Order: sequence, then C-alpha cells, then structure tokens
Amino acid sequence: MQFLKTFLLAALVLVAPASAATIQKRDTVDIFIWGGANFQDYTENYTFNPGDCQAITAPASGIVGSATVDENATCNVYASSDCSGDVTGTFSAPGISDTGSLGSSFGSVSCTIPSSSGSASTTSSAASEPTDVCDA
Ligand SMILES: *[C@@H]1O[C@H](CO)[C@@H](O)[C@H](O)[C@H]1NC(C)=O
Ligand SMILES: *[C@@H]1O[C@H](CO)[C@@H](O)[C@H](O)[C@H]1NC(C)=O
Repeated sequence: MQFLKTFLLAALVLVAPASAATIQKRDTVDIFIWGGANFQDYTENYTFNPGDCQAITAPASGIVGSATVDENATCNVYASSDCSGDVTGTFSAPGISDTGSLGSSFGSVSCTIPSSSGSASTTSSAASEPTDVCDA
C-alpha cells in the first residue's frame, strides 16, 4: 500500500506539467514547410493563432513541396502573401505530402482548429437530458 501511494503521487507530479503544456499548445497552429514533396528539404516552421494570416516564405527550391500542420487544423492557402484574393487550395492535419501545382501559389495560409469549447457545451446539455427521460 505504501508503495502504491508513493507511486501514484509520483505519477501525478509527472502528469500535471505535461497536461498543462498540452492545453496551452492547443491555442496555436504549427505549420512545417518543406521544399520538396514527401517532407524532404525541411525549410521553416511557423506558429500562429487560428484565423490569423501567416505569410509563407518560399523555400530555396522556389516552391513549397509539402507541408504538415498539427492540432486537427484545416488551412486555406492563398497565392498572395496577405491572404487576399482567391483560396488556391486547402489542406488538413496531418498535412499534404505533395502540393503539386499549389506549391508555386503558397504565399500565405489561414487555419482553423475545431473548437473544443463547442463540444464541451454540447456534452453538458446532453448530460442533463437523462433527467428528462426519467420524468417521461
Ligand atoms: C521552428 O523554427 C525555429 C527557428 O525558426 C527553431 O528554433 C525551432 O527549433 C523550430 N521548431 C521545430 C519544432 O523544428
Ligand atoms: C482532433 O480531433 C479528434 C476528433 O475530433 C479529437 O478526438 C482530438 O482530441 C483532436 N485533437 C486535438 C489535438 O485537438
């Protein structure tokens, strides 16, 4: 018993900082840009807020060959560097292994992450429903 208590305490201490970091990380989008297809020739990463416009500097190869993104994000790609004009393409996490013709029109991105607060409120309203079911 004494061993188990000590073990659980140690486990809690280890878990706490990790989960705090995970929650904080969920707020931003991380994109990794590669000069070649299939994640060859790593060039740059960008961290920015969902909904913000992030300009992408062209890799030395002249095109963005592939890109990865975290946090379930979905990104719109624009040829302009300020997210103006038409959306030239979209990609979602975990990324796109070959941008093809989109690679030379990869001037900027704007990404969204599905909101976790939205699903939390859905859960709480669903939790009150069993009371109604019992009454009926
Ligand atoms: C992202 O890029 C910065 C510099 O631009 C670098 O210091 C950092 O290590 C990179 N992060 C990853 C995960 O590669
Ligand atoms: C990604 O989406 C899945 C399914 O909606 C969800 O279970 C998971 O927690 C999400 N991950 C992040 C990092 O938001």
